[in-house]
Amino acid sequence: VNLREELHDHLKKLEAGNRLRKIESLASAQGPYINIDNRRFTNLCSNDYLGLASDPRLIGAAKNALDRWGTGAGSSRLLSGSLDIHDQLEKAAADFVDMDTSLAFSSGYAANVGLLSALAGPKDVVFSDALNHASLIDGCRLSRAKIIVYRHLDTEDLNAKLAAERSKYDRAFLVTESYFSMDGDCAPLRRLVESAEQYDASILVDEAHALGVFGRGLCFEQEISRRCAAIVGTFGKSFGSGGAFVAGTDELRNYLLNSARSFIFSTGMPPVVAAAALEAIQLVRSEGIALRSSLLKKSSRFRRALSEAGVPLQADSRGPIIPVILGEDQTALTAAESLRKAGILARAIRPPSVPENTARLRFTVSIGHKNEDLENAARIVGGFFGA
Ligand SMILES: Cc1ncc(COP(=O)(O)O)c(C=O)c1O
Repeated sequence: VNLREELHDHLKKLEAGNRLRKIESLASAQGPYINIDNRRFTNLCSNDYLGLASDPRLIGAAKNALDRWGTGAGSSRLLSGSLDIHDQLEKAAADFVDMDTSLAFSSGYAANVGLLSALAGPKDVVFSDALNHASLIDGCRLSRAKIIVYRHLDTEDLNAKLAAERSKYDRAFLVTESYFSMDGDCAPLRRLVESAEQYDASILVDEAHALGVFGRGLCFEQEISRRCAAIVGTFGKSFGSGGAFVAGTDELRNYLLNSARSFIFSTGMPPVVAAAALEAIQLVRSEGIALRSSLLKKSSRFRRALSEAGVPLQADSRGPIIPVILGEDQTALTAAESLRKAGILARAIRPPSVPENTARLRFTVSIGHKNEDLENAARIVGGFFGA
């Protein structure tokens, strides 16, 4: 077997099927406007919704942390890689979402995989929303629990499946995102919590995209944090840093630090990253209402401009994540290319990130976008729908 040739053939096939992914590097900091190859782009594909990744206050906190703590944690948290800054971050993150305590992970991917694989086992069952993020899916798979997928946001389907299947297993878990990353719609959290309670299941909620965008998250907002077994939050999106946390009870935290392999066998989060995340939490707590209202206003304005330009929007989607579904991979790629020619960066999101035949442009609005640039983008996308 010639591995290199096989890989080459595989990549060629992906390319021929419009599924080849490539990395494109920025020559500037992350933000609403970026540079690539000496060209300026309006960046409509970042999760830095609040523009905090280049905020001077986060940069200042990170610089101070660099002087105080050095560059790396040096080992896993269980050896000598647990620093005071981690404790501060974990307390602040837990308090932010109204939980007792939390445990920091090096990424949201690691948090979800660690959480699910530690909690669920072969005798258990996980009820999982059909559009859950890959990190939740991989966590379910790694747990070796029975995975039962219910229709996206559909509590009737979920309840029917709980009624038919729950009793066959030991522990049951219900897993959902709160604000869905590729669709911009929100889970019916209160109804999900009620279903979980009725069928003796523990609910785990991933708030990766909701924190900051919807203040202290949708669980906090709907006053159900403490009815959840765990809330996962990430620091790499609205919080402009990196890493993630799992919030819950002391027992959950102690269990995870004894069982979650992606925590145990991984170097502690770099202290600069933790310090920037901590600053972001403090900032969102003090200025969050104004930041959020300005982001949501801007998002609504872009949605309106898209509608006026003849672009069909998803009825349930809201906030800064705006999917425009084009169907065929090639159509999404061509649309992204036309935008690019006009200096607008939006990515064609294709399967397996989204289901087959739902290739799309996924626009994300940031607080720092100028209205005129959003309106220009809307006009160009409108051209794709014959306007
Ligand atoms: C819903 C959701 N959960 C988890 C993650 C993973 O977080 P991270 O990027 O920190 O690994 C992402 C995105 O990457 C996400 O969209």
